[in-house]
Amino acid sequence: MSDTGLQSAWHAVIAADSLKDWPIGASVLDEPVAIARMNGGIAALRDVCAHMDAALSGGWIMRGAEGEELVCPNHRWRYNAGGRCTHIPELGDEQVIPDWTRVPAYATREHYGAVWVCLDADACAELPRLPALEDPRYERLTILTRAWKLPAQAVMDHFIAIAGSIIGPGALTRFASPLSAAWVTRDAQQAVLFTVTPLTGKASRSFWIAATQPENGAGADIEAVNEQTHDAFCRTVIA
Ligand code: FES
Repeated sequence: MSDTGLQSAWHAVIAADSLKDWPIGASVLDEPVAIARMNGGIAALRDVCAHMDAALSGGWIMRGAEGEELVCPNHRWRYNAGGRCTHIPELGDEQVIPDWTRVPAYATREHYGAVWVCLDADACAELPRLPALEDPRYERLTILTRAWKLPAQAVMDHFIAIAGSIIGPGALTRFASPLSAAWVTRDAQQAVLFTVTPLTGKASRSFWIAATQPENGAGADIEAVNEQTHDAFCRTVIA
């Protein structure tokens, strides 16, 4: 997939339950991104203030004239969820704000317990979907995430090569993005959606989203079994 394709792909950035009432900074394809819950949705803005380049993810959310706004920590310029600057304190009552103060906004989705970002909001591809993660017979487990000093494709290639021996015999599902894949065991008892986000050209973050049918005999602590499987996979990558 070309860089253009990766711009329009969806990339998981954080577990959704880790996003509380304050912004979090992330990185996708060398792009710094500030992610925040605003006005009932999730906003993702370039994490660089238009004023003097401060990280907006170091700021906070406040209620302004246009609902919830993201406040820059340095001089308190405020941005709406679309990236438009809505308030500059130095302007006082004369809030005539020039257009150059706008920062890019990216498309976001909350999907399978993760926050996903697409940098090309006008041409986003399909999100990866796995029936097991939407099937009430399965129990969705904690999302496990890990940072790597490896290119995203290298981590994904390793998952594809080793998923069967780590999770159990089964079948691989590929998606439009080469950086997402799933493994479903032959008995359909376990399913893992694995996606890797390129932070830079040389670093990445993986997300392991697993579902298990509770009657599979894995015992009472299915989540612990899943963590052990994920740990086993991670150890093989380091090796
Ligand atoms: S750097 Fe953001 S308001 Fe000045």
